[in-house]
Amino acid sequence: MAHTQATTRILGSGFYVPPKVVTNDDLANDYGMDTTHEWIVQRTGIEERRFAGHGVGTADLGTKAAEMAIESAGIDKREIDMILFATLSPEHLFPGSGVYLQEQLGLCEGDTATFVPAMDIRNQCSGFLYGLATASSMIKSGGVKTVLLVGAETHSHGIDISTRGRAVGSLFGDGAGAVIVKATDEDRGVRGWYLGADGRYADKLCMKVWDIRAEPFIPLNDEGVGQVVPEMMYPFMQGRLVFKNAVERMSGALMQAFSDQNLTIDDVDLFFFHQANLRINQYLADMAGIPADKVINNIQRYGNTTAATIPILLAEAERSGKLKPGMKIALVAFGSGFTWGSAIIDW
Ligand code: ACO
Repeated sequence: MAHTQATTRILGSGFYVPPKVVTNDDLANDYGMDTTHEWIVQRTGIEERRFAGHGVGTADLGTKAAEMAIESAGIDKREIDMILFATLSPEHLFPGSGVYLQEQLGLCEGDTATFVPAMDIRNQCSGFLYGLATASSMIKSGGVKTVLLVGAETHSHGIDISTRGRAVGSLFGDGAGAVIVKATDEDRGVRGWYLGADGRYADKLCMKVWDIRAEPFIPLNDEGVGQVVPEMMYPFMQGRLVFKNAVERMSGALMQAFSDQNLTIDDVDLFFFHQANLRINQYLADMAGIPADKVINNIQRYGNTTAATIPILLAEAERSGKLKPGMKIALVAFGSGFTWGSAIIDW
């Protein structure tokens, strides 16, 4: 699915990562995982990640990133017409994290109670791009003018950080990113977005804590207490298949954006790829002939933060001065579903 437009722009960005740094050596020494720094770095590029503390959840992280985005956009939070919250690690099954963030942002009480709609996006690593497409389309329809789009994850509380779960547990980290998407009359902004999905691979990267087709949806023991075995409790990933499909689909999503927008690699100043594995991104860049200095990576410091990855990349790049007004940028993501997406933005 594709759409071409330039009626919306990202007005401000923000991010937040929890202060606790967990290095690869910490996984081995503090969490007892049978792994080494060399194994993880060689295959993924990841050197460290952030873990949220006890009692901290996804909406907490998202709220901090949202506050920074609101400030950087220079808007009053009452101007937000809609909240979109992309995550695969929501506080609970329902309601979504968006309403928790809304309450924490102070949009439900006093002078700033606007009671705007809040919607969660469930598209894993592609969640931010699905959210950007939704925000842009809602704005283009005239329904809203200003959208707060958040991507946030608390993976460390939901993955198996042990030898048993090392193939997944060593890859993920916690964090949040947020942007303010706004209607614009300027000749800049979101030029186009491209989304796709292939449900044939739904079971190849998944977290099936329960099965709603079963009755009851979680097996009960003799005392009537729900029993979730580790195979259901933690994410499952067929790593090599995911790797192969990630390279193919991300490259396809980028090429579709280029062809629709009539662009070549030289026209694009910076590339923001989802951060699942540094080797995927290097492979992608080599295949497409993208110079290494045009690709922004931060997986070395944060691991895979799923829906938070791209907004964290944008917020950091803006603050470090790498991402400047007037630049043409490409965003590309791939994740569970499988789902994927890309977007071209004149920043
Ligand atoms: N430390 C040490 N050994 C490990 C670790 C670890 N952290 N993880 C796995 N191993 C072991 C395995 O147990 C296995 O051992 P065995 O041969 O004795 O059984 C061996 O290493 C090889 O395991 P593989 O899983 O085959 O390793 P592979 O070379 O495929 O690399 C990796 C694994 C890095 C995860 C790779 O498959 C990958 O990056 N896949 C893509 C990940 C991705 O893109 N995810 C998508 C986004 S996530 C989302 O959307 C939610």
